[in-house]
Amino acid sequence: MNKAVRKAVIAGNWKMNKTPAEAKELINAIAPLVKDAGCDVVACTPFVDLSAAQEAAEGTNIQIGAENCHWAVSGAFTGEVSAQMLAAMGVGIVIIGHSERRQYFGETDVTVHDRVRAALDAGLTVILCVGETLEQREQGITNELVALQTKIALGGVSGEELKRIIIAYEPVWAIGTGKTATAQQANEVCHVIREVIAQLYGPEAAEAFTIQYGGSMNAGNAAELLAQPDVDGGLIGGASLKPADFAAIVKAATEG
Ligand code: PGA
Repeated sequence: MNKAVRKAVIAGNWKMNKTPAEAKELINAIAPLVKDAGCDVVACTPFVDLSAAQEAAEGTNIQIGAENCHWAVSGAFTGEVSAQMLAAMGVGIVIIGHSERRQYFGETDVTVHDRVRAALDAGLTVILCVGETLEQREQGITNELVALQTKIALGGVSGEELKRIIIAYEPVWAIGTGKTATAQQANEVCHVIREVIAQLYGPEAAEAFTIQYGGSMNAGNAAELLAQPDVDGGLIGGASLKPADFAAIVKAATEG
């Protein structure tokens, strides 16, 4: 496997943080720090911040993404936002299946699959999140579980469409807890995901496929994680709200 053929992607997941005015400020602060990035740089923001963030990101190398989308094109789904709506406002990328959505909002592997389908149909790129809870890790079912989450989410996705998918391996026990997976643990599961991609789409597709690690990645541990052969980027929560820390991760990805 040759890591150099893959695109490194560092994506911020702002979660439920920042007003539109604050979003502008944050993008303005990050932009000069990441302008020479040798990787793709993405900031996924709350829906209400998207316009402000897009405006601030204009002319920079920062792509603005969303944190979720619904599986229907339109309809009676109060409070939801469709992939078409995001595409219509020029948003090109969306996170789907984040563990917080699975944990707090009833997201299942099936609804994740449906949302992935909708996002692809709308022309978006997807950051698909998979990962195990601590209990599942202790049961020894991490690899099987992550493989299954991946297979269900990708059901019906063509090889051509796969080029618009990134998978983020995010162990639930490492998200926002300060507990990072060791570089070896992260790489092991990212490798399992790559093997699943190889099974489903062939070795060439697997070799070109971008897999991120997420879960308490920060300025201090990013370099080691990103140096792993199967870790091609990061999905960054807390540290994406701190310009210097986020920039340090982008730098580590550029070098890694
Ligand atoms: P964290 O979040 O970096 O704050 O752990 C990562 C994520 O939830 O995507």
